[in-house]
Amino acid sequence: MANNLTLAIIKPNSVRTGKTGPILSMINEAGFMIIAMKMVRLTMQQAELFYEIHKGKPFYEGLVEFLSSGPVVAMILMHENAVEKFRELIGNTDPAKAAEGTIRRMFGVSVQMNAIHGSDSDENAIRETNFFFAETERYY
Ligand code: RTP
Ligand code: MG
Repeated sequence: MANNLTLAIIKPNSVRTGKTGPILSMINEAGFMIIAMKMVRLTMQQAELFYEIHKGKPFYEGLVEFLSSGPVVAMILMHENAVEKFRELIGNTDPAKAAEGTIRRMFGVSVQMNAIHGSDSDENAIRETNFFFAETERYY
C-alpha cells in the first residue's frame, strides 16, 4: 500500500494567488484520490524539519523561509505508483523546464516558487505523510 501514496503540498505562492482550486482540479483529473487534506501555516522550525534532507545546500534557507511564508495546502494522494505518477504531473523543479501541461509549468513562477511539492521516493512519502497527518486524519 505504501507505494500507492504520496504527499503533495500546494506551496504558499499558489495558495496566496488563488490557485488552490485549479491545482486540485488537475490532481483530480489525473486520477489521484485525495485521502487527507489540510491548510496549515508552518513555522520556520517545522519547515526546517520538513526539508531537513536539503540542510547545508545553498538554497536551504530561502526554501525554508518561503515554505513558512504563508499557508500551504498539504494532502495525501492515492494512485498506483503514486510517487512517480505525481512527479510526472508536477514536472521539473524549474517551471521553465517543466513539460507543457504540468502543474509547475502552469503555476510555477521560479525555481523557488514552483507551485507544488511532491515526495520523491516511497521512503520519503511515508516520512512526509506522517509529518503532516495523524492516523485519525486520513481515510485509508
Ligand atoms: P520539492 O521537494 O519541493 O517537491 O521539489 P523537487 O523535489 O523538485 O526539488 P528538490 O531538489 O527536492 O528541492 C527542493 C526545493 O528546493 C528549491 N530548490 N532550489 N536554487 C536551486 O538550485 C534550487 N534547487 C532546489 C526548489 O524550490 C525545490 O522545490
Ligand atoms: Mg524534493
